Amino acid sequence: MPELDAAWAALDAAADRARARRIASLFAAEPGRLARLTLEAAGLTLDLSKQPWSLPDLAELLGLARAAGVETARGRLLAGEIVNSSERRPALHVALRAPPGAGLKAAGVEVSSEVDATRAAIKRFADGVRSDTIRGATGKPFRAIVHIGIGGSDLGPRLVWEALKPLKPRIDLRFAANVDPAELAQALSGLDPAETLVVVVSKTFTTLETLANAEIARAWLRATLGEAGADGHLAAVSAAPERAQAFGVAPDRVFAFWDWVGGRYSLWSAVGLSCATALGFEAFERMLAGAHAMDAHFAEAPLERNAPVLLALAHVFNRNGLGRPMRAVVPYAQRLRLFAPFLQQLEMESNGKRVDAQGRPLTRATAASVFGDAGTNGQHAFFQLLHQGTDIIPVDIVAVREGSEGDPAMQRKLLANAVAQAEALLVGRGEAEVREELAAKGLDPAEIETLAPQRTFPGDRPSSFLLLDRLDPERLGALIALYEHKTFVEGVLWGINSFDQWGVELGKSLATRVLAELEGGPPGAHDPSTEALIARLKL
Ligand code: F6P
Repeated sequence: MPELDAAWAALDAAADRARARRIASLFAAEPGRLARLTLEAAGLTLDLSKQPWSLPDLAELLGLARAAGVETARGRLLAGEIVNSSERRPALHVALRAPPGAGLKAAGVEVSSEVDATRAAIKRFADGVRSDTIRGATGKPFRAIVHIGIGGSDLGPRLVWEALKPLKPRIDLRFAANVDPAELAQALSGLDPAETLVVVVSKTFTTLETLANAEIARAWLRATLGEAGADGHLAAVSAAPERAQAFGVAPDRVFAFWDWVGGRYSLWSAVGLSCATALGFEAFERMLAGAHAMDAHFAEAPLERNAPVLLALAHVFNRNGLGRPMRAVVPYAQRLRLFAPFLQQLEMESNGKRVDAQGRPLTRATAASVFGDAGTNGQHAFFQLLHQGTDIIPVDIVAVREGSEGDPAMQRKLLANAVAQAEALLVGRGEAEVREELAAKGLDPAEIETLAPQRTFPGDRPSSFLLLDRLDPERLGALIALYEHKTFVEGVLWGINSFDQWGVELGKSLATRVLAELEGGPPGAHDPSTEALIARLKL
């Protein structure tokens, strides 16, 4: 495709220009820069002016988006067409947060009625548990939920609960994902089975970790409540309801979702049941409304003012133009500390691909590794490398203007750090200034020679700054949807299918074989290192 090749060549040329200047110089050179690169979308403010692009570079990148067919692909995604080509499915997570009666179709089949019916069932269940109408086998009200699931069946609900949970929850929500028994043991510890609901969440209902945890949790319920009693304490969420029922969950406690919902895009479905119950259905609905507002922005805003598109282009410019293999995500909000692990699955499972959607090897790099932690904690861990390491790692900073609780003076300290870090990354601190300061302190020239380079900050390190007025359900929904659409746009730019994850399969099947050997089965053929490890573990 000559047009697309020319657009990528223009990105490379823009990157060459970016290497030859400093980001900070662009503010003086481009008087309209800040306004042009600051966007409002669905209650979020996004400042992309500290990215390495000039305004003409951005115009070239928008040309790349057009040449790659972002507008057409967006239309196909939102129309429920088959965008997950390797699994022949749509990826219609937007239907899950559309207002009732939206009439959306997945691969031509109307799905909104089923979505609305499931949402009504979630509400009935959540309201019933919260009003103590739905009670446990002994008549006690439910006071705790143990949510069992992994990957997309875990990370979204965990993030939402951490972000929105009240200081003293009436219903405690705990999570167990890992097959390491320590996690479930901790989740169950101190809970009374008679007051505990176990929600098993698995799209496929075949996932080893989830089924193993579900069995242990069911045994824990049965030990106190008996078999019949325990059944009333189980609920499940699955796109394979027959498997959930075969496990022993009553049909009216199995909540549906569908193969056109990708696991890592499923928070908005009944996967959010535990959160809807523990936080209240109203909070869940408000989160859906925030995500829907971002969907509307993504669908309608021109590419030039489209937050997911611009965020994706900034990433692609850093990744492909400037060869940056990592990105840090630092929410300056303790309640958003699980945002980085959530994005790890969203971005790396979606776009960690080496061939395009037609199976052809890619010549360009795809998803960067994502890592991060809450600010200011990260400042005392990995920020040293961000400021002075040999790699340039772009940073997404997320800040929340009004704190959800606590002392406003502390919130100001937190925000001051968020802003200061973005500034420090951008401007750095020149060696001449450091030398002057050391000389003023009376250090001798030899010491200055050694110390000055170590105390210099090169700066010119890019960041995006996302500001939420407050961390409420609407803004949280919008924030997550923003990154979902950003990830999709990146996939379109790279020509990959963002909705499959074949790369997780090999390890799963090998683990089954290794487990059989650890449990005394006949030895299989392995490399010498693997054989030795199995032998050691069997001792
Ligand atoms: O890690 C692979 C994966 O298939 C994820 O994509 C998914 O979110 C997770 O496992 C859990 O799958 P399930 O919901 O089917 O248990």
